[in-house]
Amino acid sequence: MSQALLIKNGTIVNDDEILKADVLVKNGKIVEIGQNLHSEGAVLVEADGRLVIPGGIDPHTHMQLPFMGEVAVDDFYTGTRAALAGGTTMIIDFVIPSKDSTPLKAYKQWRDWADPKVCCDYALSMAITTWNEEVSKEMQMVTMPEYGINSFKFFLAYKGVFMVQDDEFYQGMLQCAKIGALARVHAENGPVIAEKAKALLDMGITGPEGHTQSRPEELEAEATNRACVLAGQANCPLYVVHVMSKGAARAIAHHRQKGSVVFGEPIAAGLGTDGSHYYSEDWLTAARHVMSPPLSRDPTTPEALMKLLACGELHLVGTDNCTFNCQQKLAGKHDFTKIPNGVNGVEDRMSIVWERGVHRGVMDPMRFVAVTSSTCAKIFNIYPRKGRIAVGSDADIVIWNAKATKVISKDHHHQAVDYNIFEGQEVHGVAEMTISRGNIVWEDGQLSVEGGAGKFVHLPPYCPYVFAAVQQREKVIQPRAVKRAPVEEMAAAKISEI
Ligand code: URP
Ligand code: ZN
Ligand code: ZN
Ligand code: ZN
Repeated sequence: MSQALLIKNGTIVNDDEILKADVLVKNGKIVEIGQNLHSEGAVLVEADGRLVIPGGIDPHTHMQLPFMGEVAVDDFYTGTRAALAGGTTMIIDFVIPSKDSTPLKAYKQWRDWADPKVCCDYALSMAITTWNEEVSKEMQMVTMPEYGINSFKFFLAYKGVFMVQDDEFYQGMLQCAKIGALARVHAENGPVIAEKAKALLDMGITGPEGHTQSRPEELEAEATNRACVLAGQANCPLYVVHVMSKGAARAIAHHRQKGSVVFGEPIAAGLGTDGSHYYSEDWLTAARHVMSPPLSRDPTTPEALMKLLACGELHLVGTDNCTFNCQQKLAGKHDFTKIPNGVNGVEDRMSIVWERGVHRGVMDPMRFVAVTSSTCAKIFNIYPRKGRIAVGSDADIVIWNAKATKVISKDHHHQAVDYNIFEGQEVHGVAEMTISRGNIVWEDGQLSVEGGAGKFVHLPPYCPYVFAAVQQREKVIQPRAVKRAPVEEMAAAKISEI
């Protein structure tokens, strides 16, 4: 049982309203919102001049992911602590079974890793890295209430490791549609990337600049378009993770205009920095930015993606937080294809979006709440329990100071990784206090939370926000047969006419 909290004089921002009101929290829930509230014995939180917003939800992280021969250094403890310090109170991490494992085995592994360590609430999304009857059956099992999975991710890249073929992806999406789960996709053209990487290495281009040159933006746009087409054929809702380029965003907009149910997720890295670093003469600077799809080499992309997010062509912001230390990045010192892929973001996502979105006048504070919290809660079927300041909602609340600034640096971030891709950037918009399940866990620059304090959040399938249109469409697009006389009779009649 947490102590009652009374948040006084703040300005509540939800995705559709801004209002000045007090908020009373008891036993981890918001119990009252109103003017001049009083509550005997409650801890007073003065929020005058500050915003009271729903805790951020990061829909895309990879804590302690074993990947490319290394294990990501931010684990479920350091990663979720850092999330709280930045105003994020829930993450959705990916279970990624190796090709010789199964969804169920991997699910258990991830729960064993995460449950004792998480400092904020978390949920899981499941990657499908191989395709057979057993996998298909286990997809159905993990969408049962006791497992709480309602989305599956397919990699169209990382050939030979996580990648699935188009027919497997298509079958996987048919199964998603059948069991009420959302399909998510890493959209790149894995086979062509493998060819291009080999050609670059043969030319002697072994540095991180080879990473970006082997993965031209057109290949992300092509795969995004293909994924949207195949999702349409399977009548399955689709969520494109890490939208990194204008071309990929355009493909999503094109299919949405045609009526597809597709969501696009840009990430903090793609909004807050760009791919110019791959050409740095300092190998480590370049390698630290290696992730897939790569950061865009077009310097106008971050602002363009932010504008698409503001106007609703893109929908929510993740991070793809998957951090490898400099020492681990050195695994690829002679061959860029061996640099572990991944960057930071979980701590800085909210401030990066505020700075480049709201502070620069691109989006309003309600849209900020939508793209950092509410839309994620809606897509993953936990709204308004999460993603809203409302009576009955979980007390995951951030006291946000829009006027405060901070300079992002590895020297004072809370992540385990030994660099920060946003190093030296000054951002307006700072999480002054973070409340998780009714407990103050971040205040005055100090974290007070223990591993295991966060809880696993079960995500129910058949989310109406995602499925309402496709379910109706399923009825409309049923295959149609034409009634005819038996072919033999018809053929006999035709022949006698001749
Ligand atoms: O480079 C990346 N994105 N690493 C994490 C794995 C993935 O593709 O999401
Ligand atoms: Zn990915
Ligand atoms: Zn990822
Ligand atoms: Zn600024």
